[in-house]
Amino acid sequence: SNFSIEVVLTCFCLFLLLVYNVRVRHGGTSGTLPGKDGFPIVGCFPMLGKHKEKVLMKWSTSSLGPMFYIRLGTSKVLVLNGYDAIKEALEQKPLAIAGRVESKFLDNGLIWKEQRKFGQTTLGGLGMGKQSFQSKIRDEFNCLAATLESELSINGPKGVNFTSMLRLYAANIISSLVFNQTFDSTCRYVVFLNRFIENIRLTPCDWQVKGFKPSCSDYMTKPFKMTSSASLAQSIFQALVDKHRKSRDPNDPRDFVDCYLNVMEKKQGKNSSFTEKQLLYYIVDLFLAGTETSANTNAWAILLVLKNPQVKAKLRSELEAFGKSPTLEDEAKMPYTRAVMQEVFRYRTSAPLNIVARRTTSDLELKGYKVPANMPVIANLWSVHHDPLTWAPYPETFRPERHLDGDGNFIPNDHVMPFSVGARSCIGKNLAKNEVFIFITSIFSQFDLELADGCHVDNMDGDSGMLLHPPEYRVKGSIRV
Ligand code: HEM
Repeated sequence: SNFSIEVVLTCFCLFLLLVYNVRVRHGGTSGTLPGKDGFPIVGCFPMLGKHKEKVLMKWSTSSLGPMFYIRLGTSKVLVLNGYDAIKEALEQKPLAIAGRVESKFLDNGLIWKEQRKFGQTTLGGLGMGKQSFQSKIRDEFNCLAATLESELSINGPKGVNFTSMLRLYAANIISSLVFNQTFDSTCRYVVFLNRFIENIRLTPCDWQVKGFKPSCSDYMTKPFKMTSSASLAQSIFQALVDKHRKSRDPNDPRDFVDCYLNVMEKKQGKNSSFTEKQLLYYIVDLFLAGTETSANTNAWAILLVLKNPQVKAKLRSELEAFGKSPTLEDEAKMPYTRAVMQEVFRYRTSAPLNIVARRTTSDLELKGYKVPANMPVIANLWSVHHDPLTWAPYPETFRPERHLDGDGNFIPNDHVMPFSVGARSCIGKNLAKNEVFIFITSIFSQFDLELADGCHVDNMDGDSGMLLHPPEYRVKGSIRV
C-alpha cells in the first residue's frame, strides 16, 4: 500500500542520514578536540548567524576554549580564538598552517614560497610600504578629493556615498604598482570591481573555507558567482599584460608586471613556477586582497570619527597643529591620529576571520591536541580584538584613548593584528597602513564633514561577509578654505 511505501522510504532516508552523520562525525580530526557538529548534512552553518566572528568567539569563551572544531558541510574546520592560540599556531608552527583552502597561486609548497618572496622583494623595490611611494598615494587622494568636492557641492544636505571613491583610491594604488597606470571610474575594470565587491559583501560564511566539498552555501543560498568574476578580471588583466609585453624594456622595468616578465624570461625552460598563468592569478589576488580591505578600513574610519564628535575634535586639533596635510614622516609626531587608526583596526577589523581560511599542510600538535593535515583553519582575529580582559573595561566602545599612556604617548600593541601574523600574514601591511594614514589625515584636514541629513546610522555592527563591511552612510560638508 501507499502507506507502507512511504514508511519504508522514510526509514531508508533516516538510515542514510544516520550513516552519513556517523561517518562525518568520526572522520577528520583526532576525536579529542572539542567542537560542534551541528545539524546533519549542513553542520554548524545555520548556527553561525549574521556575525559568525561573534558567535565563534562566544562558543570559545562560554564552553569550547581557545581551540575547537566546527563542522561545516562534510568537513571539520579548526577555529583558533584569542591571542595565545593564534600566535602559537600561526607563528610557532608557521609552515604547518601555511596552506590556504582556496588559492590558485599562493598555495603551500615551493610555488607559494617562491612567488611570495618575489612579490615582497619586487613590490618593496617599487616602493610599496615605503615613504618614497607616498607621492603616488597622495596623487590618488587628490583625485578622490576632487570627486568628493564636486559631489558634495552638487548633493548638498542629501550627502554623498563614499564607497566607490574609496575603492577607486585603493585599486589605483595597487594599479600604479602593478601596471604603472591608473583607472578612471568609468573603466571596465572599475565597473567590474564594484559589482564583484557587492558580491563579497553577501558572501555566505562557508565560502571562506570552501576548499572543502560540498560547500553548504552551494545548496542553501543563491549560487555564488565568485569564480566567474575572477575569470572576468583575468581577461581584463590579460589585455594589460599583453600591452606590457609589447612595450617593455627588460633593462628598465616599470612595474610589477615588467619585473615578473623579466623573471619569466630568465627562467624559461627551467621548470619554473613563473608562468603567465601564475602572473594573472597573482594580479587578481593583489587586487582582491588589497582593494576592499583598505577601502573598508577607510570607510569605517570616517564613519567612526563622524559618529564620535569628541574624537573628531581631538583629531582635528592634532592635525591643525601642523598647518598642512601631514606626511608619513610626521606620523611619529601624531600620537592621537595613530591611536585612532589602531582603534579602527581593533574595533571594526576589516577581515575578522582572516579573509580566506588557512589549511594545515601536515599533521601537527597544538595545545596538546592532534590536528590532521589538510584541515581548514580559521583564525578569529575578532576574538583577539574584543577580548574582555585585554580591552577592559569597555571592549565594545570605540575609544582611541585606550592606545595612549598618561602623557598622551601612543602605545603600539601587538594584540591589534588586523593583518594577521606568521608566514602567510598580509604582504601589503605597510602599504595599507600608509594608505589609511594619508587618507585619514588628508580628509580631515582638507574637508569639513558630517553625516548627511537624515543619516543616523544607529546600528554600527556592519555586514559580515568575507569582510566586515560598514553600514551604508552618506556624508555632507565642504572643502575647507
Ligand atoms: C587595511 C588593509 C588590509 C587588511 C586589513 C589586510 C588583511 C589581510 C589578512 C588578514 C590577510 C590574511 C593573512 C593570513 O592568512 O594570515 C591578508 C593576506 C594578504 N594580503 Fe592583505 N590586507 C590589507 C591590505 C592589503 C594590500 C594593500 C595588499 C596589496 C599589496 C594586500 C595583499 C595581501 C596578499 C597578497 C595576501 C595573501 C598573502 C599570502 O597568502 O601569503 N593586502 N591581508
